[in-house]
Amino acid sequence: MPEKNQILNELSAVSTKDELETRYQTYLGKKGSITQQFKTMGSLSPEERKNKGQELSALKTALEEAFAEKETTFLMSEINALLEKDLVDISLPAKRLETGHYHLLAKTRREMEEIAQSMGFRVEMGKEVVSKFENFEAVNIPITHPATEMHDTIYLKDKDERGENYVMRTHTSSAQNAVIKKYGVPIKVVLPGRCYRFDEMDATHDTMFYQMEGVYIDKNISIANFKYVIQTFLSGLLQKKVEVRMRPGYFPFVEPGFEIDARYEYLDQKTGEKKLSKWIELLGAGMIHPNVLKTAGVNPEEWRSGFAFGIGVNRVAAMKYGIKDIRYFTNGDLRFLKSF
Ligand code: DAH
Repeated sequence: MPEKNQILNELSAVSTKDELETRYQTYLGKKGSITQQFKTMGSLSPEERKNKGQELSALKTALEEAFAEKETTFLMSEINALLEKDLVDISLPAKRLETGHYHLLAKTRREMEEIAQSMGFRVEMGKEVVSKFENFEAVNIPITHPATEMHDTIYLKDKDERGENYVMRTHTSSAQNAVIKKYGVPIKVVLPGRCYRFDEMDATHDTMFYQMEGVYIDKNISIANFKYVIQTFLSGLLQKKVEVRMRPGYFPFVEPGFEIDARYEYLDQKTGEKKLSKWIELLGAGMIHPNVLKTAGVNPEEWRSGFAFGIGVNRVAAMKYGIKDIRYFTNGDLRFLKSF
């Protein structure tokens, strides 16, 4: 009869499930040597049979246990291997979800709207497709006047009730008439939005650009009021102390009209000194022309005080973020868009 210890030694050297099964059959299977010995016990004397029986049973039990234990170790390593394979490493950085953000122009426009709102202006959007009347006549640009040619206008095929082709607005001033009619006076409103001109594109001109029109009509509004409002607005927008200079300028919808330049204080990076920037031409403005008021149904004798201004959003964004070529705003270059 094989020694118990010998079998246990063999068992500890077993390294596969198949091998284990073979060993099991060798000793404990139907034809296994230990099973066979049980069968030979009939020829023994009762005394011997009893002793041998106890001995064999004890051996069988011990071996069954040892085999079961070995089987368990195989099972465990199989499970571990499976777990290993399916392991999710939670310490690995997750794939980043790209979150979008506002386009630089939208961001700038919103900032402008917010500052205007904080100063008591209502924000209205106006229409991009307008009648020739709204774009020109209503803001005192007679159709026959050469001023009409100040803008290279994009005309649409569709016609309005006057039989005139609609146009893509060339400036946000085209929204003045409708908004004054809508709310009446006094009024304090800004009208941001897209404008279109049939222009050659270059670093400072695009066929589509954003403007923001401001209209403030009340009794006793002076040029000084305007200067204060625009200076406060620009300081908020550029987050710097802005100084404003007004030069006479011609715009048919205002009288007098101004070109507004701005400059601001900044810290020189090298010397740490406070310096003043160059004057930058930023917007057009003026005191609203009586004809504009009249056309919108407002009595200019009674309300002959109010100002309007038009400011280019692209230009503000370009200045604020140091962009040399405004075509970047619209050419869809993601490297540019993602860097803001
Ligand atoms: N509409 C003018 C333009 O597009 C800008 C402008 C100038 C608007 C003077 C105004 C203004 O309201 O008073 O160039």
